[in-house]
Amino acid sequence: MKIGLLASRIRVEEKLLIKALDKRGLDYDVIDDRTVSFDLARPHLRYDVVLERCINHSRALYALRILEDWGIPCVNRYTVADVCGNKLLTSSALAKAKIPVPEIRIAFTPESALRAIEELGYPVVLKPGVGSWGRLLSKINDREAAEAILEHKELLGTYHHSIFYVQEYIKKPDRDIRVFVVGDEAIAAIYRTSPHWITNTSRGGASSVCEISPELAELSVRAAQAVGGGVVALDVLEDPDRGLLVNEVNYTMEFRNSVEPTGVDIPGKIVDYAVGVGSGKIPYTPSH
Ligand SMILES: Nc1ncnc2c1ncn2[C@@H]1O[C@H](COP(=O)(O)OP(=O)(O)OP(=O)(O)O)[C@@H](O)[C@H]1O
Ligand SMILES: [Mg+2]
Repeated sequence: MKIGLLASRIRVEEKLLIKALDKRGLDYDVIDDRTVSFDLARPHLRYDVVLERCINHSRALYALRILEDWGIPCVNRYTVADVCGNKLLTSSALAKAKIPVPEIRIAFTPESALRAIEELGYPVVLKPGVGSWGRLLSKINDREAAEAILEHKELLGTYHHSIFYVQEYIKKPDRDIRVFVVGDEAIAAIYRTSPHWITNTSRGGASSVCEISPELAELSVRAAQAVGGGVVALDVLEDPDRGLLVNEVNYTMEFRNSVEPTGVDIPGKIVDYAVGVGSGKIPYTPSH
């Protein structure tokens, strides 16, 4: 069995994955997305499975598409990266699968976005369709702020910033839940607690263990399957009235702050899953 670890800069997460590969005595190459080039007509990489860990969404997406076209099973699959890398596509997939989510509106002009925002009622959260680490999220508390942000996005942003993704603001406690799903199992979960409404650990949120209730496990696995399954991490918000709502699903997740509080060997479980896919023990359906 030969494994490809497709990565860019080797972050803490990739170091931990490499450690897990070494510990298992597995044969692998690190494929650097900064130096690789693909000859589309001549498949020149041969692996039983590729584990994708790119930092950049577009690189991940195109590399996965090519590798899958070459017949190489990938963790995650191209379609999973495509859906999870885009909040609109994720939310549409979750809604289709009847997963409880916050109220969401998609609009294509500032005028229709403002109407949608007013229908939802303040506060709302405006997010870029593609983005992470809590960047460019806006909590909008009134109409004047909405008008200003929409105008700025239209005039200062690229075309993509005029695809407006609006969520109702969930009055969660000072935390959200990050759940890691590998295959059909919710393997670990943390609370991310912060005085700021954006609770990402990359923005200073503190992580602590979250016991996985049967309800959280069931919801998480269902949500993971709705976006195509594999190795994913969900953000779950606790609504005071409606309970657990799935905010989003991430596909090349960071986990450096989650191993210690949970005591779960997250990199080990990811590697074991990739080995399962590569060896055919875990059923694999190519994206296309
Ligand atoms: N609708 C909402 N209501 C309340 N809090 C929210 C809402 N949306 C996001 N948040 C808070 O902001 C954080 C970041 O939001 P989100 O995960 O959508 O952004 P992101 O940039 O994609 O982050 P990630 O690094 O996880 O990809 C959430 O973890 C949550 O704490
Ligand atoms: Mg998030």
